[in-house]
Amino acid sequence: MKYRIVEQTRPGGMLAQVYREVLVPAFPPEELESEESLAETLETGLGSLLVAVDDTGRPAAAAFGHWWEASRVQMLANLAVKPGTRGHGLGGRLLRDAVDAWRERYDPCLIVAEIESPDARMVHEDYGDPRRRLGFYESAGARVLDLPYFQPGIGGASRRVQGMLLLVIHADPTFTPERLDRLSGKLLRAFITEYLAAAEGEPANDWDAKALFRAFDREGGIPMGRWGTRP
Ligand SMILES: CC(C)(COP(=O)(O)OP(=O)(O)OC[C@H]1O[C@@H](n2cnc3c(N)ncnc32)[C@H](O)[C@@H]1OP(=O)(O)O)[C@@H](O)C(=O)NCCC(=O)NCCS
Repeated sequence: MKYRIVEQTRPGGMLAQVYREVLVPAFPPEELESEESLAETLETGLGSLLVAVDDTGRPAAAAFGHWWEASRVQMLANLAVKPGTRGHGLGGRLLRDAVDAWRERYDPCLIVAEIESPDARMVHEDYGDPRRRLGFYESAGARVLDLPYFQPGIGGASRRVQGMLLLVIHADPTFTPERLDRLSGKLLRAFITEYLAAAEGEPANDWDAKALFRAFDREGGIPMGRWGTRP
């Protein structure tokens, strides 16, 4: 089967079909924003949906990116390949195309993704294996940030997802000033402040958030590397 990759930056188009056929089956509900919310991100000009379309015109894989304008960080919010199509290179191709498109358009300080820790148990085969998923991103050059990270709660702090990792897929060299394996805590602070407030609707001031923000102050920046080689 041959696939072509198309991008849309406006709502409508393939969004509803991609949401129903590719994203909903691939993510636990707490890790996936509503279709309306993705449409709103596209409507405000901050979204990018790349879709791998098969010969028959059906979506086989998709990547959704959210541009966090104030901190100049692009987040790969969702990347999924339909279960029967996984393991044949389509996810890797889509990730490369998405990163190329986003680097050219935004010139971002960072491109990040959040994934479940490989210590997490495999919830359902369709959601994928956390260990293999980390392997996928590391093969693409992503590095794991050494942070007590949680995914902000979509719609409120009570909906946070614990046990998540924040990955750096691309970092502008300006933000790794001293060492390539350390990332500027100031940049991460700006991004997480913006992201948390938007997702949860109120400033976060609890213990978990405080621990995360304290980690940004680490002298010399936040360590990042392969999962197995973290300090
Ligand atoms: C992770 C994912 C996007 C990779 O796409 P893909 O087309 O299968 O990947 P590729 O063929 O380009 O690369 C192969 C690698 O992908 C990973 N992979 C393949 N099948 C996988 C699965 N069922 N679960 C998790 N990772 C898988 C492995 O690392 C694999 O390398 P390996 O064979 O050496 O173990 C895809 O498997 C998927 O949709 N998983 C479920 C949703 C998800 O985890 N999304 C990422 C979080 S945003």
